[in-house]
Amino acid sequence: MEQALTSSPSQWKKTRVSSSLGIEFPIIQGPLGGLSTQQLTATVSNFGGLGSFGAHGLAPSAIKDVIAEIRALTTKPFAMNLWVSMEDEGAFTSGSEAFARSLRPIAGHIQALGGTLPTYKPYAPIKFEDQARVLLDAKVPVFSFIAGVPPKEILDECRAQGIVTMGTVTTPDEAIALEQAGVNVIVASGFEAGGHRGSFLRSSEDSLTGTFSLVPQVADAVSVPVVAAGGIADARGVVAAFALGAEGVQMGTVFLASEESGANMHHRKALLSGDARRTTLTRGFTGRLARGIHNQLIEELNRPGVDILPYPLQRALVKNVVTLAEKAAKPELMQLWAGQSANLSRQTDAKMLLQTLVTEVSGVADSVVRWNSERDDR
Ligand SMILES: Cc1cc2nc3c(=O)[nH]c(=O)nc-3n(C[C@H](O)[C@H](O)[C@H](O)COP(=O)(O)O)c2cc1C
Repeated sequence: MEQALTSSPSQWKKTRVSSSLGIEFPIIQGPLGGLSTQQLTATVSNFGGLGSFGAHGLAPSAIKDVIAEIRALTTKPFAMNLWVSMEDEGAFTSGSEAFARSLRPIAGHIQALGGTLPTYKPYAPIKFEDQARVLLDAKVPVFSFIAGVPPKEILDECRAQGIVTMGTVTTPDEAIALEQAGVNVIVASGFEAGGHRGSFLRSSEDSLTGTFSLVPQVADAVSVPVVAAGGIADARGVVAAFALGAEGVQMGTVFLASEESGANMHHRKALLSGDARRTTLTRGFTGRLARGIHNQLIEELNRPGVDILPYPLQRALVKNVVTLAEKAAKPELMQLWAGQSANLSRQTDAKMLLQTLVTEVSGVADSVVRWNSERDDR
């Protein structure tokens, strides 16, 4: 195994992840599709980590504006994130009957919250290739992605433009596929993670490996640097990730709890409360498997026999309830995205969170460095 950390004292931050991304600390604020903000991205990048912006839900012109806004807030490297696969099979053919079946379990909530029932509209796609074109033209520092392997031409162009590529995997086989495609940095995301599973070789349900098991297997399977994601919420998690062979960490849920995130007040409050102790995986929120705080809406949509539309049709449908629930301050009917370590969230200030992490990790990193180098010598 390639040594994950250099062996001189207090040098934990100098990994291949920090050098290839051009950052001081190998700490990445994970993209938070739908809840990313330019401010959070820039705050993390300005601190010396890598801020990421989840842009998959945006039209190309909006992505262009976001990049310009982030650039006005930071001169440091940042990542723009897209989803390679933007829809499930069936999204183009799903019709009004399926729509009516999937509307049934949430129709009562929409009406009780004073809304009008939505009507069927055929799927209008946003194309990954068009979004990626904006990232390439803008020469973003880092192009991060999930849910697949980008086409060769896009990866070739990134290489030619000096854009660092970083892709998420949920199994060692997916890591090998990304390495073979020439991706620079691999994010190994355990099932503890908040938000969507990005599995692309097998179904998400058949790719549920925890971070503790996944990270060392991915680190052994590929020679490119590996970032650990899923369930990392404090210095203990960061140190453990490094001991497992990661050269960086990606954290999402703890950053959602910060005031700079796009999460609404009720969501952030839930993340910082005892409610966050129970999270659940569901396809009910969007059509793809994703993790959020267990609430009434997850429970109802996870019931056997509930018809779920293909991604992203289910997402658009459920939004009808969620938007009204947010206005009515009813967290039990919101999408409270969160990973399994949400209950460890303490900080509401992203810069303070990073400062605390760096201080605490620096205190123990040397012994992990020693342990890792002794392990490599055996
Ligand atoms: C609300 C939310 C949205 C997310 N959106 C994306 C996304 O669009 N693209 C992506 O690659 N990862 C996305 N993630 C995953 C995070 O970037 C990160 O890898 C994950 O949250 C790490 O696990 P943790 O939640 O336990 O910290 C999202 C996570 C959350 C909680």
